[in-house]
Amino acid sequence: MTHPMPVFPADFRWGVSTSAYQIEGAAAADGRGPSIWDTFAHSPGRIVDGSTGDEACDHYHRYAEDVALLAGLGVSAYRFSIAWPRVQPTGAGPANQAGLDFYDRLVDELLGHGVDPVATLFHWDLPQALEDAGGWLNRDTATRFAEYADLVAARLGDRVKLWITLNEPFIHMSLGHGMGVHAPGRMLLFDAFPVAHHQLLGHGLAVSALRARGSSPVAIANNYSPVRLAGGTDADRAAGAAYDALHNRLFTDPLLGLGYPEEPGFDPALVRDGDLDVIAAPIDVLGVNYYNPTGIRAAEEGSPLPFEIVPLDGYPRTAFDWPVVPDGLRDLLLQLRDRYGAALPPIQVTESGCAYDDVPDADGRVADPERIAYLAGHLRAVHEAIAAGVEVTGYFVWSLLDNWEWAEGFTKRFGLVHVDYATQRRTPKSSYAWFRDQVIRP
Ligand code: FCB
Repeated sequence: MTHPMPVFPADFRWGVSTSAYQIEGAAAADGRGPSIWDTFAHSPGRIVDGSTGDEACDHYHRYAEDVALLAGLGVSAYRFSIAWPRVQPTGAGPANQAGLDFYDRLVDELLGHGVDPVATLFHWDLPQALEDAGGWLNRDTATRFAEYADLVAARLGDRVKLWITLNEPFIHMSLGHGMGVHAPGRMLLFDAFPVAHHQLLGHGLAVSALRARGSSPVAIANNYSPVRLAGGTDADRAAGAAYDALHNRLFTDPLLGLGYPEEPGFDPALVRDGDLDVIAAPIDVLGVNYYNPTGIRAAEEGSPLPFEIVPLDGYPRTAFDWPVVPDGLRDLLLQLRDRYGAALPPIQVTESGCAYDDVPDADGRVADPERIAYLAGHLRAVHEAIAAGVEVTGYFVWSLLDNWEWAEGFTKRFGLVHVDYATQRRTPKSSYAWFRDQVIRP
């Protein structure tokens, strides 16, 4: 099936995203210390297929091959993350230069192929030693994070084209500390709020640390999920507002200078004088990670939550069982513009993608027409938002490679490139060729 596509601005940033623990492997190489994800993955019963990221895609050793794949794709940017435990194996102290050497090589390889390095400083792999001291529940972790940001900027600040402080602090709080399905596996429900505040504080301190080294532009990558109400009562609408405040506003309101929304109702004693100013330090780009909207209705009497999450019917679904709703991305982008107005910086979609059970055929080819349809729909949604006046300046596909998908282990394939984990053989899927043709327009 062909997908007629609109034309994007000539300077639109086309990219793909990955993260360190999901692709690098080499878990003990060159002095890397353990992170909470090593600990979690090695705990029985945490990962559906019992796998770990010990080897993952072995990108640590195969990065040159992977950069060649990026170059073949024609993208102008590559979003990767830096593993904090490679830089500070115990989360404190001087930089482990051998760990930074890897990113130094990667950045030079990217630049040599005309690809802008976009570096995320924290994609969930907290050094285990910091977790042992309380992790993000401990305010001190915010200070540690800024020190780490400074060490990375000192080494790479002259070449990274966009810094992203945190990846999806909402998901790290909710799945990692609220529900216990991600590392570090805490089940605190609403008592996980300190993790929100301390991540945001760490973000703000890191923005200052980066700028003090002349390293910019700076962004954060938030996960967003627009609410789709599953009922029309006042109680449904109140439930929708409560979920929206938690998922979509808890991090973005304070980042853009509005302070915390009232709805989630967390302990204001956490917030010290001056914290909100630190958090609202100006950013240059807002990173938007979007996968799907969330269906919400009023909770049953006696529920511990002020909303109930319900499946969204009537949409195609990915192998993750996530509904495919491209319009949700357009709605979200318009909603951000309407909600934040002049306070909203330019947006880049820093993650968008889908998992399918992609299998090579007898000739070794991997056809993934569902992914092509998914990307076409979501790119059209971005274009509609641009046409409606929202400043969206880039789009990154999640992900370059099939990789280790957190608690789902190797069972979910998100790549434009298929990876045979037994041999580490990379095979571009049909979506790779399709995406290349969007990037390189005649
Ligand atoms: C996002 C994560 C990313 C990947 C995708 C599928 O929430 O940032 O690492 O797991 O989901």
